[in-house]
Amino acid sequence: MNVESKGPVISKHGTSINPKLLAWVDEIARLTKPDSIYWCDGSQEEYDSLCQELIDAGAFIRLNPEKRPNSYLCRSDPDDVARVEDRTFICSQSKADAGPTNNWVDPKEMKATLERLYDGCMRGRTLYVVPFSMGPLGSPIAHIGIELTDSPYVVVNMRIMTRMGKDVLDVLGVDGEFVPCVHSVGKPLAPGEADVAWPCNPKNIYICHFPESREIWSFGSGYGGNALLGKKCFALRIASVMARDEGWLAEHMLIVGVENPEGEKTYVAAAFPSACGKTNFAMLVPPKGFEGWKIWTVGDDIAWIKPGDDGRLYAINPEAGFFGVAPGTGEHTNHNAIMSCRANSIFTNVALTDDGDIWWEGLTEDTPAHLIDWKGRDWTPDSETPAAHPNSRFTAPASQCPSIDPDWENPAGVPISAFLFGGRLSKNMPLVFQAFNWTHGTYMGATMGSEATAAAVGQAAIRRDPMAMLPFCGYNMADYWSHWLTVGGQVDNPPPIFRVNWFRKDANGKFIWPGFGDNMRVLKWIVDRVHGRAYAEEGPLGLMPRYEDLEWNGLAFPQDKFAEVMSVDREAGLVEARDHEVHFEKFFDRLPKEFVCEREMLKARLLRSPKD
Ligand code: GTP
Ligand code: SPV
Ligand code: MN
Repeated sequence: MNVESKGPVISKHGTSINPKLLAWVDEIARLTKPDSIYWCDGSQEEYDSLCQELIDAGAFIRLNPEKRPNSYLCRSDPDDVARVEDRTFICSQSKADAGPTNNWVDPKEMKATLERLYDGCMRGRTLYVVPFSMGPLGSPIAHIGIELTDSPYVVVNMRIMTRMGKDVLDVLGVDGEFVPCVHSVGKPLAPGEADVAWPCNPKNIYICHFPESREIWSFGSGYGGNALLGKKCFALRIASVMARDEGWLAEHMLIVGVENPEGEKTYVAAAFPSACGKTNFAMLVPPKGFEGWKIWTVGDDIAWIKPGDDGRLYAINPEAGFFGVAPGTGEHTNHNAIMSCRANSIFTNVALTDDGDIWWEGLTEDTPAHLIDWKGRDWTPDSETPAAHPNSRFTAPASQCPSIDPDWENPAGVPISAFLFGGRLSKNMPLVFQAFNWTHGTYMGATMGSEATAAAVGQAAIRRDPMAMLPFCGYNMADYWSHWLTVGGQVDNPPPIFRVNWFRKDANGKFIWPGFGDNMRVLKWIVDRVHGRAYAEEGPLGLMPRYEDLEWNGLAFPQDKFAEVMSVDREAGLVEARDHEVHFEKFFDRLPKEFVCEREMLKARLLRSPKD
């Protein structure tokens, strides 16, 4: 194909042309050989017409406009339903820089593989040029990426998830920097070959990051974090490397503001692993007994955190939308998420109701008598498989969230007063405790365990997911811990760090803690600790609230149940502390020395009986 003749129409927008961008688009087009190139302007008309094309191609179903205006259902290939961690690569020059927790391939070798894979991979398709900004457009802490993709599904999702379109090219200007992101579903079409609704190449997936040259190359999958490259690939894996070099933090964290009845506002950031409740916590609805309290959402998945001139840490949410887990999201568990996706949203792998709306397990108390399941099959409550895929998701504009913080797009960010780490653990880990100091808190984050979720196929039931960043840290995890210690030392009073666990179960396998809105009770104690208003008792794991330190107004939660959800089993704690040693072994000499001391201190505290 003659690339020049179908070349960029960028000047049509009156946008200045970035020669590096033009040369790169040209280079990728020559390699991938699409039928045409389309530069996205980010307009509503463009979005509508791409959605119409997706309908015509059998990929989208328009939902009932009365029930779900301007919204679509999409069903993916059943073999392409989540991020694939074992096909995710960090291709740094040196293997040690990727570290023992990342898949590493020599960048030269990977580039050679990619050249082969991408050669002609867009035949029969359109190459879309998707300019996007992570962070408010033009803000000093925002970064620009350009995704080249052959998936119109990716384009429409990127328009919700990022600030996307020609305005980004204006900000980029002639000599601006951008992170180049190449994406292909990896399924070229032979002349005359009919397309499938969800093209992909699931046996040949490569999600590749080149931290030194700050490039992203993704092949074979069209789903979520594999394909919406601004999210995990850029805003976490590449950004974590930028953050290391520039003295800030790129984290898998929600950001939430807590406003008390007196109008005092306190922001906290929380790292929970994938599918462990970030979206719920970010949009928490205060329970009965918390009249006058308000919760404000800044972000539900990613935080970029930078030291400010005043010695505090400031966070922005680099995204513009939510790519939220659908199952379990309902009016009672997450009202604000339900409101966020009431219109202008894309639903992937959920079920379709007979009246053209969507449904998933946990959306409503009653189960519809008949549905079309996520694979397009008839479904009734007697069916043996769930109607929606467990990792089905809604893509919704953040601006539609009723609890969205007035400052969510403030380029200066919001000041963070506390950090939370929380995995999904059914045993041993208490509901909440506070670290003694920043170093101890960093250690708590670094040793965090969680029970496995969708993207981690074939993993042990419990895996260590340090800071919820195991799949997302673009460099050696031990260096990342050192970076945390360094950043803590750079701010005047590093925020206190807390460990939370909503998921502890009783002997009958039932959650002990009611969770969801009632997590407010824990959050209030945390905020009160921040402001020096709440008591905490020193225990072997950290500083813990007593029963009377939490607000119980509106909830009957007896003291013995609280004791159960807060209990520390010293034997189990010692087994755990010894396992930290195993966990750390593979980091060799890069492990921060502080961690060895923290572990010994933890063991010593656990061994000393409370009455000594
Ligand atoms: P990613 O988007 O994958 O990074 O995950 P996330 O952390 O945003 O996950 P999300 O908030 O969507 O949570 C997913 C699951 O956690 C849902 O099934 C919820 O029902 C469940 N969940 C959230 N909060 C609570 C809670 O307080 N208690 C219990 N038991 N479950 C919860
Ligand atoms: C996660 O897995 O942590 C997500 C979903 O937030 S995805 O964007 O697919 O990575
Ligand atoms: Mn996530």
